[in-house]
Amino acid sequence: MRSVVRGVGGYLPEKILTNADLEKMVETSDSWIRERTGIETRHIASSDEFTSTLAIKAAQKALSNAGLTGADIDMVILATTTPDDTTPATAVKVQEAIGMTQGCAFDVQAACSGFMYASCIANQFICSGQVRHVLVIGAETLSRIVDWTDRNTCVLFGDGAGAVIYGASTPEEDEVGMGILDIIIHSDGRYRQLLTTTGGVSRTQNAGYVLMEGREVFRHAVKNLSDVAEEVLAKTGISVSDVDYLVPHQANVRIIEGTAKKLGFDMDRVILTLPCQGNTSAASIPLALYEGVKSGRLKKGQLVLLDAMGGGFTWAGGLIRL
Ligand code: ACO
Repeated sequence: MRSVVRGVGGYLPEKILTNADLEKMVETSDSWIRERTGIETRHIASSDEFTSTLAIKAAQKALSNAGLTGADIDMVILATTTPDDTTPATAVKVQEAIGMTQGCAFDVQAACSGFMYASCIANQFICSGQVRHVLVIGAETLSRIVDWTDRNTCVLFGDGAGAVIYGASTPEEDEVGMGILDIIIHSDGRYRQLLTTTGGVSRTQNAGYVLMEGREVFRHAVKNLSDVAEEVLAKTGISVSDVDYLVPHQANVRIIEGTAKKLGFDMDRVILTLPCQGNTSAASIPLALYEGVKSGRLKKGQLVLLDAMGGGFTWAGGLIRL
């Protein structure tokens, strides 16, 4: 049995923060941000929007895209670094909002690789036959943990949520090889200080602010992203020329271009949402899938390579036939 994508959804807050806006907040320039990161605008949650608000909107769109309701979902896994509360998990708010009283809901924390970790867990439950439909969400309000006086980090991040519903494959779908072919997840805690926060509930009794050694993160990112992509390609016996699109985590256009080049993808085979969304951490890959499907670039039957890297370090690669 495989996990097949049944629906995708996404939500971005209305408020847009431009590079020109940032020029008024810190010593930076539109040209520096564009050249070094590829980011032009990002979305910022309003004061009455929380990670759950964004997640619920993305989940509702994914349900409607799949033609399902909350009653069909057995499990909700929400990947986030910015939960509404320390406890309970933000996922249970989504569970309630979609009218789901059965099954289970929980959060996963794997920074920018969170959606891939959550998809990997969903895949295990579906393949073992324990559940039929899993709603996987990546949702973030990173604007709440960004130090808006730190130009090294505040220009990079944005808020948003993306959702994917995976369902157990039918025998017909198995025959044509649809669904998740494989997902590989990795972490290496020796690098945890390179991308972290200034605090956390146990250590400082607050969430802290994002802290990053940008140059070091950059150096590891291209290597880890291309290594894990090659690992999943080798494991599944698929070559880059068989893959229709690379759907990478959206952190920096130079990281994406470097990884694409190393793997042998032209940029017209890469889904890029970074210019208008910035880095939305766990939400970036499901949002890119959503944008790809919405724009008609991603279609049923296509093979997509997903690739993520984030704090921990964590990194992950996956192949899905849509
Ligand atoms: N505006 C203007 N100048 C800036 C800004 C800014 N917003 N930010 C930094 N600078 C300055 C620095 O202070 C430095 O000045 P100095 O030479 O006087 O000290 C200069 O620009 C160059 O800084 P570098 O860090 O060398 O710039 P670099 O080209 O590496 O770009 C960046 C910085 C964009 C952060 C890059 O390192 C990067 O993208 N790293 C990856 C980090 C990332 O994406 N993290 C997100 C989470 S991890 C992930 O998702 C993979």
